[in-house]
Amino acid sequence: MRDKKEIGRTGEKVSSIGLGTWNIINYDAAMDAFLYAYERGIDNIDTAEMYGDGRAEEFVGEFLRRVGRDNIFVTTKIMPQNLVSRDRAIASAEKSLRRLGIDTVDLILLHWSEPHLSLESQIKNLERLAEKGYTRYIGVSNLGVEELGIAQEATSRHEIVVDQVRYSVYDRRVERRLIPYTIERGITIQAYSPIERGAIIGDPVLRRIGEKYGKTEVEVALNYLITNPNVVAIPKTEKKERIDLFVGAMGWRLAREDIEEIRRRVESRYSIEDLEGES
Ligand SMILES: NC(=O)c1ccc[n+]([C@@H]2O[C@H](COP(=O)([O-])OP(=O)(O)OC[C@H]3O[C@@H](n4cnc5c(N)ncnc54)[C@H](OP(=O)(O)O)[C@@H]3O)[C@@H](O)[C@H]2O)c1
Repeated sequence: MRDKKEIGRTGEKVSSIGLGTWNIINYDAAMDAFLYAYERGIDNIDTAEMYGDGRAEEFVGEFLRRVGRDNIFVTTKIMPQNLVSRDRAIASAEKSLRRLGIDTVDLILLHWSEPHLSLESQIKNLERLAEKGYTRYIGVSNLGVEELGIAQEATSRHEIVVDQVRYSVYDRRVERRLIPYTIERGITIQAYSPIERGAIIGDPVLRRIGEKYGKTEVEVALNYLITNPNVVAIPKTEKKERIDLFVGAMGWRLAREDIEEIRRRVESRYSIEDLEGES
């Protein structure tokens, strides 16, 4: 499947659809699903220290041993409270690496920003993890344009390569400012909750558009996101039979008129007021 996107300006290319690991219930079933996804060309996985209290990272570690570390681009995330000091950041990253069973992760993100903690110092501590060789690249999550600008200013040797944010056909707030901003600056958006945790299933507009292409609403919803040049989506499933819908979102693109129709007719769950000042 040749549908790949560069992460930031790193030169690293990953499949336009990756896999998330939040809220896995049956890890054995999930392993079957992830192995199948790998066979079908999905090569990037998102996890976090907080998912399943570390169990998700252990799962990803086992997956890496099965498919070969170098074949997967692994993203993990550190909670803001673990980035308040250099020592805490190092201890946290070491625990993540131990669970993952590797020496270096591909990308570590600040999971979200806490208003009462200094964003600059968290980013500096994140950068120290790259300097120590614990991660190849750094990035952020849940940051809007202003905070992302502050994060970028706080770096000295490592660029912010990713902002991972909520983005779906039902939540298009990031389209207004964040996507244009990140395109201009060579930052990749990793779209989380891209199928709204299953809520897009049965959407009549997506379904009808999909009929033209022989695609389902899941494939249309994911394809809509990756029509943006810098967006990679990271849906989650632990069911092997649902992987085909993620894979089927790649390798083609919705026509301009269908993208416009989604913008016009698929109702956003957020009001226009929410857009102001949002990411
Ligand atoms: N940075 C952040 O703050 C943040 C926040 C949230 C999520 N994330 C990341 O993004 C990933 C994806 O987001 P998400 O898990 O919130 O939401 P999502 O990918 O939009 O939806 C996942 C949910 O949809 C279900 N699903 C998948 N395919 C389906 C299908 N064909 N029909 C019906 N239901 C289906 C899954 O259940 P089954 O597994 O049973 O199929 C799961 O419950 C997460 O796993 C996590 O890695 C990051």
